[in-house]
Amino acid sequence: MLRSLLLIPALCCAAVAAQATPPAVPAAQSLAATCFNCHGPHGVSTAAIPSLAGRPAASLIALMNEYKSGQRQGTIMPQIAKGYTEAQIQLIAEYFAQQHP
Ligand code: HEC
Repeated sequence: MLRSLLLIPALCCAAVAAQATPPAVPAAQSLAATCFNCHGPHGVSTAAIPSLAGRPAASLIALMNEYKSGQRQGTIMPQIAKGYTEAQIQLIAEYFAQQHP
């Protein structure tokens, strides 16, 4: 009886410790997750905003750079695109290119 009572806190702490370490999320997915709100989960849109999933990375990079430079107009994307470095845009574009629409 005493033995099993002693085990309870030990199990409890093991569970807390396991939760303290979040599962590893790849950097590209973390960056791309900021786009999910508007472009749909994993870039699969069910609303008016275009899907990004499955589109060629080169085309997504080109669009982001056009928003960034002001060459392409938009309501929100020019501001969003300016917040990312070239390397981050490449990671995000490659992530969406690998998703299935
Ligand atoms: C707050 C909502 C919102 C977020 C967040 C958002 N977008 Fe957009 N996105 C839009 C809207 C709206 C458009 C249409 C252009 C515009 O009005 O700015 C668009 C257009 C685009 C386009 C052009 C699509 C096309 O076919 O013309 C690309 C590429 C794009 N977004 C990429 C991204 C990426 C990558 C992210 C994350 C880093 C992102 N967007 C985050 C709302 C959003």
